[in-house]
Amino acid sequence: MADLLASEQLMRFSGIIDTALTQQKELLHSPDKRKSDQPLRSFSVREVSHFLRVKYNSLRQYLNTLEGMPPGTTETGNRKYYTAEEVNQILEVLLEEGKIGLERFPRRQPGDPQARLVVYNLKGGVSKTSLSANLAQILALQGYRILVVDLDPQASFSDMFDIQADVDDLPSIYDVLKYEDHATGTGPISITEAIQGTYVPNIDIVPGSMSMTEFEFETSASFRAGADATPFHRRISDALETVDEFYDLVLFDTPPHLSFAVISAVFAATGMLIPLSAGMLDVVSLAKFLELAAGTMQVVEQHQDKRYDFIRFVLTRYSASDPAQLQLSSFLRSHLGGAMLKHDFVSSTAIADAGNTMNPLLEVDPSSFHRKTYDRIFGSLSGIADEVDAEIMKSWGRTPFVREES
Ligand SMILES: Nc1ncnc2c1ncn2[C@@H]1O[C@H](COP(=O)(O)OP(=O)(O)O)[C@@H](O)[C@H]1O
Ligand SMILES: [Mg+2]
Repeated sequence: MADLLASEQLMRFSGIIDTALTQQKELLHSPDKRKSDQPLRSFSVREVSHFLRVKYNSLRQYLNTLEGMPPGTTETGNRKYYTAEEVNQILEVLLEEGKIGLERFPRRQPGDPQARLVVYNLKGGVSKTSLSANLAQILALQGYRILVVDLDPQASFSDMFDIQADVDDLPSIYDVLKYEDHATGTGPISITEAIQGTYVPNIDIVPGSMSMTEFEFETSASFRAGADATPFHRRISDALETVDEFYDLVLFDTPPHLSFAVISAVFAATGMLIPLSAGMLDVVSLAKFLELAAGTMQVVEQHQDKRYDFIRFVLTRYSASDPAQLQLSSFLRSHLGGAMLKHDFVSSTAIADAGNTMNPLLEVDPSSFHRKTYDRIFGSLSGIADEVDAEIMKSWGRTPFVREES
């Protein structure tokens, strides 16, 4: 290839990759290959009792005696299993029948503001997407109606839920946020047109797309033009107004770089979760990141004072068996105190699959794990979900539910 011009070489690589991607796409499109064709697995009574925070024995009794309870499906060993839809139905019956109060019913009541959580860290590989996906699934099973807005042009969150705007030519968050094009007369679409349902009930997604990079150019251009359009920082919160009543929680998965889209999400958010991977924890870079984040916040605050209901750190890819990490975690806890979540997202090769993405835990067959391993990972994620739930409940003026240790 030495005699080729650099541009020719690059074009050749482009061609190779293009062909490879087309092949991969065909594979994805073959009818039996899409994971969205399969529903989420069903859950045992024990699992349901955990999600809904009702004692196992009480739940069994309620399932047998209360009117309106779903039938479930009987599987081997005469055990009952319930789909995610049925878990939601159970939740509603429990509230109607007065078996639980609003502290265990994570739906907004009139006057409660929509919770909007931005998962934020300008580094890649700190588990933003894995954490968002796992958190979304567990909170959805607890009853939250969730809209995920995928702001990463790489769209890995959307990918994980088998929604591929760029492959399937679907509208994406870009189409919602883009600016009016006066030359062609085309403008943004309503967010309702871009929302995709998923195979997880209670989780909808506004997919990410490569074209989000366009939004960055358009925003810069809008400064030069002296904008008459909605300023960039308000574009996400404005777009969300249309669907405000349908979701209890909006979750933003963000790209690993600062962008106008990220600032717009930071402006729309009511709470912030900052994942810190043990790997990134040279504390110097953390301090720098926080300084940068504060600067970003100041940009937002030039327009409007911004107060969050909570800002929390969570340690990710954490492995307590590594002495260096253990030391770091206690260092952070002693200095950040209550701002650090009590639960860490434990590191687990068991759920990182062959590809470069991780399956959300609830999509993995628990019987393919050692029971202890599964429980350890589930405990870690469910603990994080409970802490996030507690913050949201507080923002709705409710007293968070505290689980009894079982
Ligand atoms: N707790 C974990 N244990 C093991 N691997 C993880 C864990 N969390 C994330 N990973 C892996 O690390 C990589 C980066 O995670 P990802 O969630 O995509 O980070 P980000 O969104 O911050 O870039 C992925 O390959 C993922 O499978
Ligand atoms: Mg990511």
